[in-house]
Amino acid sequence: MTVQQELEALQPARLTIDRVSKWFAMKHQRVHALDRISLQVAEGEFVCLVGPSGCGKSTLLNVIAGLENPDEGSVISAGQPVNGPNRDRMMMFQEPALFPWLDALDNVLFGLNLKPGLTDGERREVAQYHLKLVGLERFQHANLHELSGGMKQRVALARSLAPNPRVLLMDEPFAALDALTREQLYGDIQRIWQQRRKTIVFVTHNVREAACLGDRVVLFSPHPGRVREEFRIDLPRPRDINSVDLASHATRIMTALKGHLTEAEVAE
Ligand SMILES: Nc1ncnc2c1ncn2[C@@H]1O[C@H](COP(=O)(O)OP(=O)(O)O)[C@@H](O)[C@H]1O
Ligand SMILES: [Mg+2]
Repeated sequence: MTVQQELEALQPARLTIDRVSKWFAMKHQRVHALDRISLQVAEGEFVCLVGPSGCGKSTLLNVIAGLENPDEGSVISAGQPVNGPNRDRMMMFQEPALFPWLDALDNVLFGLNLKPGLTDGERREVAQYHLKLVGLERFQHANLHELSGGMKQRVALARSLAPNPRVLLMDEPFAALDALTREQLYGDIQRIWQQRRKTIVFVTHNVREAACLGDRVVLFSPHPGRVREEFRIDLPRPRDINSVDLASHATRIMTALKGHLTEAEVAE
């Protein structure tokens, strides 16, 4: 395996989520987190899952990642049943979950440590390529405490991408950032997605964000977590979160969202 081969984007995976159900046992009750979720995600598609908190978005992402087992149903990724975590499906969270005692480059290298067939020098080249991809070329040796929240998320993104996964799973990755930083990342994630050809499942409770990023937006409703409606977003890319066309898609989704919720849930 050469660095060049390693940097060639792999064929993105097709995901088939087939009637996935999941319950959690609490002290006094059982929570029905997912109720027969079926969803197809095409190779290289960017799908956003939206819905209010508690509707099972994170649980579904964890099931796709192989971090949770479904009680019923199955997930197939690139033709293989999912039954545990795998480098083919990398996950990124709201909190960057980086190692504070390592610099940016070593954090990205960490994800490559287990990658067979590369020398240390080659791993370094792969890590540097990905730091450049996320715009942090000059910050390889920065300590994490010197980086802003947005930059830390960029390091986390580089770390998720470095092992060359076929699927990228993102759980509200920009939710803790300020609006301006988020806007920059919307542009960057669209560019990186097109350049690296990943299948992306992106979770958010922000309808506008979903309409900005997704080829398709899948609307969930809670108690139990169900798929309610799907919206195809056929706007050209790169998309600007502030565009008028985007606003009309977002309004359509928001109207549907409110239609599926009780008043108390809308107020949350
Ligand atoms: N580990 C867990 N133990 C018990 N209940 C859980 C656990 N994870 C999630 N839940 C419950 O499952 C439901 C769906 O949660 P979650 O997937 O986190 O929703 P979302 O990401 O849409 O906010 C919620 O009612 C939540 O309280
Ligand atoms: Mg969540």
